[in-house]
Amino acid sequence: MSTSPASVNNNGSLADLEEWDEFLEGRYKEGKTQEEFRVYDATATPGVAEFYRLNHEHQTLDYVLDKERTYFSLQKGQKTVWEAAEFLNTLVDDSDPDTDLTQIEHLLQTSEAIRRDGHPRWMVLTGFIHDLGKCLCLYGEPQWGVVGDTFPVGCAWSPDIVFPEYFANNPDRHRPELQTRYGIYEPNCGLESLHMSFGHDGYIAEVMKPYLRDEALYMLRFHSFYPWHRHGAYDHLCNDKDRSMLEWVLKFNQYDLYSKGHSKPNMKELKPYYDDLFAEFLPATLAW
Ligand SMILES: [Fe+2]
Ligand SMILES: [Fe+2]
Repeated sequence: MSTSPASVNNNGSLADLEEWDEFLEGRYKEGKTQEEFRVYDATATPGVAEFYRLNHEHQTLDYVLDKERTYFSLQKGQKTVWEAAEFLNTLVDDSDPDTDLTQIEHLLQTSEAIRRDGHPRWMVLTGFIHDLGKCLCLYGEPQWGVVGDTFPVGCAWSPDIVFPEYFANNPDRHRPELQTRYGIYEPNCGLESLHMSFGHDGYIAEVMKPYLRDEALYMLRFHSFYPWHRHGAYDHLCNDKDRSMLEWVLKFNQYDLYSKGHSKPNMKELKPYYDDLFAEFLPATLAW
């Protein structure tokens, strides 16, 4: 195990984060039917089930509002994109370097797959930065508060959220005003005005908000919002903008899930391309 202070008690070792990614990959394998999704129960994947038990129990409206106050004001200091990626890489330490990907390698595989398919440069950039918010683990946030499917808080939970039974222990269950279809929101108010369960998606979107186009920000903010982009849930809270952005989020999701297995990216060779790419869209340093 790593001895760096950041990863001793972050509760989010590489093994855990990878287990999460593999779960997603399996769950959303192309061609799977709705029925097949259901095989992911507590007996089949106990680690994942425990992760969601904690996530669904603790992601209350008040928890989310508190985390938004802490992190969305971007008081964690200035970093370049490379510095943020290197920082994230410290999360990973004890794995076999030949078989496991570092966090930077996952980012590069995602962005390189997007680049190979000839997508616009802003989307390649989005591929590279999409998981940088996982540095929340290094700020001491528990794994269940950093990764995993996201969902709106402050209104009724959709049955399309994975392991919905674990919401039984969420204290918001006892706040009837948060248990209605719309809860604290207006019909078709738009996804951007929702408070989403807290995690790496919302955080990286806030960091990048001043610099990137809406399509990119939707990919960042909602890439783990599977109940919406894969199951069509929460349409009653969506506006036309959300519906037009959906295709981009789905396009992006393919690369996030299925770009693994390509050869290990060569950092040295790729660096000049990414230096130019970052300089085209972003200032030298960003507030985190
Ligand atoms: Fe992610
Ligand atoms: Fe990812």
